[in-house]
Amino acid sequence: MCGIYGYVGEPTNLASDILCALKTLEYRGYDSWGVALGVNGHLEVRKSAGKIGDATLSLPTSGIGFGHTRWATHGGVTDANAHPHLDCTGRFAVIHNGIVENFRSLRAELELQGHHFRSETDSEVIAHLLEERSKQEGRISPATFGQVIDRLQGLSAIIAIDNETRTMFAAKNVSPLVLGAGPDGSTIASDAIALHGKAELIHHLEDGQVAEIHGGSVRLWDLASMREIAPTWRKLPDRSFDTGLAGHPDFMSKEMAEQPDVLERLARTANGEISAMAHAIQESYGTFLVGCGTASYAALTGSYLFSRIAKRHVNFVVGSEFKYHEHFLTNRSLVIALSQSGETADIIEAMLAARARGARLGAILNAEQSTLDRMVDLCIPLRAGPEQCVLSTKAYTAKVATLIMLAHEVAGQPDLGRKLVLDAASALRSLLTRAWIGRIQAIAEMTRAATSMFIIGRGLSYPTALEAALKIKEVSYIHAEGFAGGELKHGVIALVEPGTPCIVYAPEDESRRDIISGAMELKARRGFIVGIGSRNDPAFDVFVEVPDVGDAAPLVQALPAQMLGYHSALIRGNDPDKPRNLAKSVTVK
Ligand code: AGP
Repeated sequence: MCGIYGYVGEPTNLASDILCALKTLEYRGYDSWGVALGVNGHLEVRKSAGKIGDATLSLPTSGIGFGHTRWATHGGVTDANAHPHLDCTGRFAVIHNGIVENFRSLRAELELQGHHFRSETDSEVIAHLLEERSKQEGRISPATFGQVIDRLQGLSAIIAIDNETRTMFAAKNVSPLVLGAGPDGSTIASDAIALHGKAELIHHLEDGQVAEIHGGSVRLWDLASMREIAPTWRKLPDRSFDTGLAGHPDFMSKEMAEQPDVLERLARTANGEISAMAHAIQESYGTFLVGCGTASYAALTGSYLFSRIAKRHVNFVVGSEFKYHEHFLTNRSLVIALSQSGETADIIEAMLAARARGARLGAILNAEQSTLDRMVDLCIPLRAGPEQCVLSTKAYTAKVATLIMLAHEVAGQPDLGRKLVLDAASALRSLLTRAWIGRIQAIAEMTRAATSMFIIGRGLSYPTALEAALKIKEVSYIHAEGFAGGELKHGVIALVEPGTPCIVYAPEDESRRDIISGAMELKARRGFIVGIGSRNDPAFDVFVEVPDVGDAAPLVQALPAQMLGYHSALIRGNDPDKPRNLAKSVTVK
């Protein structure tokens, strides 16, 4: 998953514009960055491992260029492996988001033809394939570019510059690309967020289309027929949400603090969409909730909520496993994807598989006009505003809140569902105080030397424990694992040593008695027990109080883990917004 931005139009201070655009796309990957500009008849390339940070480039003005932020898939994090990549002659530059699954055979073929490679990446083969075709045909046409793309296997978004004709070509296979039309020229990016201030109209490039940008104007070709087609321009969505830090030190703290407002907005606005989705669930013969990472834990929470509240079985499947698990789908199935970005490759692929079996497609997502948004039959928007920290916090609680209201809608109790969410919003607001956060900070200090941590929950708190573990591990790098409380005695407890931090979710529900027993088992092995609930217990060494909000418990139980991960990260000097090895939108399989 990488960030891509390109421009063709009136000469401008393009290097600076590209760096600025790439910074808005760094959530997609920040292992390295690079820029290529057409200057005085050749391509000037600057690239570097690491985040963009305060990097500046002193390059002449230019009317054609692009840039890339990388999340490494093939080849280490080095300057040489940073995009853009050139062909042998320096005529073609390429930037790429995705994976060329057959790059080894292509590279071997090209090396036999005498091509020399400068990087270990899969992406570089594209530049040399263009060079090889130019030897045969001189100029690269949209058809030639399309034929090169057709040789690539895997999900990709590709942009190439032919500096001889000062033309930019683009094509995609599932990974996103958005074209922009503006007063000074045309732009293209992985995400419309990078086009603000540059474009007034956008066109989402579709699979099977090739874009040819020359002199600032966009021409679009249908690859199958090679007929020219008109772009479907639509207005660039307003960026009505503040994308700044709003006085917070980082996006993670900002977005944790936004959760009460997000839940209240959701409870007050998502009525029509929720009743439409509830109706689709009631009509379906088999509903599947699908998600990846944090979204998968929200989906798993949904399966418990529908059981408890709607007395209805809904299936949960993790996105990357869906295609191994979809054989019994029918045209009466409903598959609902949960996703913050709407671009997660494993989810898009799962939904394509579901569509191929005739299933109805739904989504609960935070990204309007994303790939997922544009492929489903019905959608519940989270309206959580841009989530810019790589860790998902407000989008997670928004998904769970949506599922709480959806389950109550199916059960014929919509008002109760909204009330629970509003109660949880108030409860969250009551926790976001210096005193309560101070207690979490103290626990982060007590556990600063931990190398592993266990989180247990039962029933509705089991997926919460899994999400808590992910939050903590992905930002503090502590090896945190979530378990079903009842699983401890089946082997897990062998890992507990004196002082091992063990977080225990103990809500006021039917799981409390058994989870307290689990806590005693951990205490007997001298684990350091952190209890989370509305009532303390002698089993706990420290207690973190959260209000009792009934079936909305996951909404308030998430915050202690988010905060513990955050403060543990700060103690360790980690960047809470861009943890190592991660990216916000996982657009590769
Ligand atoms: C969440 O903290 C992680 N960054 C990651 O698990 C994320 O939830 C997952 O990649 C799914 O992303 P999506 O919601 O955008 O589909």
